[in-house]
Amino acid sequence: MNIILLGPPGAGKGTQAHILVDERNMTQLSTGDMLREAKDSGTEMGKIVADVMARGDLVTDEIVIGLIREKLQGEKGGGFIFDGFPRTLPQADALGKLLEECGETLDAVIEMQVDDSALVSRITARSTCAGCGEVYNDITKPIPADETCTKCGQAKGFNRRADDNEDSLKNRLMEYYKKTSPLLGYYYAKGMLESVNGLGEIDEVKASISNALG
Ligand code: AP5
Repeated sequence: MNIILLGPPGAGKGTQAHILVDERNMTQLSTGDMLREAKDSGTEMGKIVADVMARGDLVTDEIVIGLIREKLQGEKGGGFIFDGFPRTLPQADALGKLLEECGETLDAVIEMQVDDSALVSRITARSTCAGCGEVYNDITKPIPADETCTKCGQAKGFNRRADDNEDSLKNRLMEYYKKTSPLLGYYYAKGMLESVNGLGEIDEVKASISNALG
């Protein structure tokens, strides 16, 4: 089963993708993570995207479609979770074609609905384990007192993202409403869209996604 998790910044896409990876042996393909990796490793492409990401603008379709194409050719697993991709109509069209070329289908698009006010507090309180990328939150899922990650058991420190501030978030939300929200109609028209309330506890959201996936 191949699915898309669609929602604004901070909706909980990464958190739920990690759960699906653990429970269903699926493969998470997060364009945000791929771009941050390129940025941290100092590649030419990483240098180009660093400022764009810090501002909260979208990286070009060409770059992200190229990243996904590479991953789809290389990875196999119990299905793909597209997290943060597609984000524009050209990206959605490209994903359809890429899946077809690989003999795969898209089975569901899960929209995670969360109010803007909740997104601000979620994003500004977020950190991730430097070892395994497990997502934490100062309010709802604090870093353990001994600073050891509950998932990987390592104490490699915790990172905060350069774009996790109110200014960037405003821009990221504008980009979402202008360029990504049209995908809701695109996938609704294809009969693939399932909307879940992303405002509950992490386990409640997980259960809603499980129900939607059947
Ligand atoms: P990306 O990394 O994809 O960021 P995003 O879409 O803004 O989403 P986030 O990762 O911020 O949030 P999330 O929904 O995964 O939430 P999370 O689970 O972490 O993209 C970053 C940038 O890269 C973009 O701005 C753009 O520049 C570029 N980019 C990436 N993909 C691109 C593309 N396809 N095209 C063009 N450019 C692209 O949760 C957030 C917090 O909330 C955490 O602290 C978590 O613990 C907490 N939380 C989660 N669920 C709950 C819950 N149910 N209750 C309470 N707290 C919760």
